[in-house]
Amino acid sequence: MDIQIRDMVLDDYDALLALWRETPGVDIRPVTDSREGIGRLLARNPGLSVVAFNANTMIGCALASHDGRRGFLQHVVVAPVARGQGVARNMIDICVERLREHHLGWVHLDVVVDNESASAFWLKAGWHPVETLTRFSRKL
Ligand SMILES: CC(C)(COP(=O)(O)OP(=O)(O)OC[C@H]1O[C@@H](n2cnc3c(N)ncnc32)[C@H](O)[C@@H]1OP(=O)(O)O)[C@@H](O)C(=O)NCCC(=O)NCCS
Repeated sequence: MDIQIRDMVLDDYDALLALWRETPGVDIRPVTDSREGIGRLLARNPGLSVVAFNANTMIGCALASHDGRRGFLQHVVVAPVARGQGVARNMIDICVERLREHHLGWVHLDVVVDNESASAFWLKAGWHPVETLTRFSRKL
């Protein structure tokens, strides 16, 4: 495979949606994962999110953003055919380096509690679960 990683642009949306739909465990949100939602994310966070391609086929993506205090990673996804080749690691390294430039304290991500494979991946990659916090949320 000849894998290239580049900045995500809104024209990637159709391929992104196809990748998310093909990947079990990816929760596609009606508002924030719509074309308009991804457009808003990219406009608010220029140059942070990435996509990976093998030739003309999208095989990975990582959404990165920040709120001025903390960074966030979401939808870190690699197509099954391209797994185990460092694509996720390379995308994450790029996103983390870019977030670092924004003087943030931490970068966070959420893992669904029963996604043991994802938890194992993040642990292996040097991330750690936050035992001292409980996340509270409210629907807008
Ligand atoms: C998790 C995921 C992104 C990993 O992508 P990937 O490109 O295969 O990962 P990489 O090849 O970059 O792996 C980096 C390292 O993690 C290891 N690794 C990969 N998947 C792993 C897993 N599920 N459990 C434990 N280790 C894992 C690799 O062996 C590699 O180890 P190394 O540094 O010793 O070589 C991919 O499996 C995926 O898309 N899963 C479904 C979506 C998902 O759950 N995403 C996370 C949402 S929170």
